[in-house]
Formats: sequence, C-alpha cells, structure tokens
Amino acid sequence: MRMIDIHTHFLPRTWPDLAARFGTPDWPWLKHSGSGRAMLMVGDEEFRPVTSACWDAAVRLEAMDRDGVDVQIMCATPLLFFYHRPAAQALECARLFNDAGREICERAPRRLKSLCQVPLQDTDLACRELTRAMADGHVGVHIGNHVGTRDLNDEGLITFLEHCAGEGAAVFVHPWDMMAPERMSRYQLPWLVAMPAETQLSILWLILSGALERLPRSLKLCFAHGGGSFPYLLGRVDNAWRNRDIVREDCPRLPSSYVDRFYVDAAVFSGDALELLVKTMGEDRVMLGSDYPFPLGEQQVGSLIRSQATLPAAAREKLLHQNAADFFGVDAPRAAMRTAALLSA
Ligand code: CO
Repeated sequence: MRMIDIHTHFLPRTWPDLAARFGTPDWPWLKHSGSGRAMLMVGDEEFRPVTSACWDAAVRLEAMDRDGVDVQIMCATPLLFFYHRPAAQALECARLFNDAGREICERAPRRLKSLCQVPLQDTDLACRELTRAMADGHVGVHIGNHVGTRDLNDEGLITFLEHCAGEGAAVFVHPWDMMAPERMSRYQLPWLVAMPAETQLSILWLILSGALERLPRSLKLCFAHGGGSFPYLLGRVDNAWRNRDIVREDCPRLPSSYVDRFYVDAAVFSGDALELLVKTMGEDRVMLGSDYPFPLGEQQVGSLIRSQATLPAAAREKLLHQNAADFFGVDAPRAAMRTAALLSA
C-alpha cells in the first residue's frame, strides 16, 4: 500500500541568532551536540531533544523507505510561529523557515512536500506570505489553532482562511500555546490534555459561531491528532445544541452535520479510537499523520491504519494515501524509486 504521511515536522539545521537580530530574549535555537543530535532551546531553557531527521533529507528518506512511506508533508513546528511577537519579526521568521523547508524538499521533490507558515497575527502580512510561499512550491499552510485570545472564528482569521481557499492552499491546523499551563507543569500534560482540548475548542468555535456557514466549501481544512477531543465528545455537543438555545444561537444546523467541512489526521494511537474517528468523520476525511520525527509520534509510521481489521482494505487505502493525494493535490510515487536516485536527481 502506498502511504502519504501528512503530519511531519522539520527544523533547519541552523538559523540566524534571532535574539541578537531582534534584540529581545527567549527565541528558539538549536544547540548541536554532534552525531546528529541537538537540543531545541528557547533562550536558556531546554525545550526538546531532536535529531538530524529534522533537517537531513537523507535521514528522512531512509526512515520513509524503512516504513514504506512514499511522501511526507512537512511543516516546521508551532514553536516557530511567533504569533505573540511583532508581526514584522514573525514575517521575517516565516520567510526564513519557509525557504528552509523548500530547501529540504529540493533534495527529493517528489517525496518531500512542505507547508508554509505565516505571521497570523497580521492578516495582510499572512495573506501576502501565503501567496508568496504557494508560488514558491509549498502545498499549503500550517497554522496554530489560535492567536492569543483570537480563535478561528475571528474576523481576521476568517479573512485569512478565505484567502487560503482562493489560493487553493490546504490548511493544516496544529494545536499550540496550550491552555492552563499553570495546572499542567509536569508529565507533558499540555501535550496529553491541553492539545486535544485546544483542537476541539477550535473546531467548536468554527461550528457554533456559524463561521463554517460563511467560509467557502472549497476551503481545505485539516485538524491534527484526529481532531483532538472533538470526535469523542461530538454527541455531547449535539445534545447541548438540541436542548439549549444559547448553544445554537449562531449555528443553524446540528453540529455533527458540519463534519463534512474538514479533515483530520489519524494520529490517535489506538485502534478503538481510529474506529470511532472513521465512523465520525467518514472514511474520506481521515488521513495518515504520524508527527514524525518527534517522540510522541507513531514510531512505525502507518502501522495503526495498516493493522486496523475493522476497516476494509479499500478504506485503509483512502486513509493511507488517497485522501491525502486529493487534499494536498500530490500523488504518491512508488517508494521503489530509491533514495539514492532521488538525492542525486
Ligand atoms: Co505535530
């Protein structure tokens, strides 16, 4: 079976000293320790250990060949969005990381595709960078699920999403800047609890505010991590919509009737969860996404979907590559095209 992995992350091997460039503290940088290992730092704090899989196309292709992944859709990481910084600085960083993403993809252009990032705190700058980046070869955009207190139903963000629809840019929404950090100080609780809640919150803002009534149906929207808590709790939302007028005041139709307006990835790490996800979203709206190469990702990419006995083979093919091929407008060349040949191409 062919595979397109739509949720993978990259980091350039190095980038300019942003603290020196902008004269403010706490910017991310990579502290290399040799043999392809590095610590992603934020100012003086350690954020996450990473490996050369983040920046070295050859390492990525080797892992893809091992797992049978034909194409990776790569995005940078939410840590690099900088929506809370001055917009001009976030724009400069977006260009830097967008260009770096293109450079990695150029090592194997048929197998590595990239999503751009934009300074979403400024709608005009975000739209302009989106247009520039799409012309430069990105297949879509990676955005955070909110900008401070502005969620996806915010006027500026709606304008940006409309612009994406106009440009044919697929939008991948990744949770970030997680809620209630003061109550999640240990055990990676922001990743385990707040991330799924953030994603559910964003989907509900889009549905309950009526934003999906206004946004064009041509908008290609995908949420990470199986839509977070959304699929599991959709029945609770429908029940609330039926029984409380304050829930339905801006939302004319049953919340569950909007599931045909967006996609999700399949990063749920449980066969039972995947079964519910496909039942909720439909087999045309779930796509393989692994979170490669980070530690919370699926370690053998595609294994959950491949071994999902409750799904007929035709549905597994949709999840593994067909839905993603349609969504991102890419095809899945046979992985038989070897890494070495691609790198020398
Ligand atoms: Co991710």
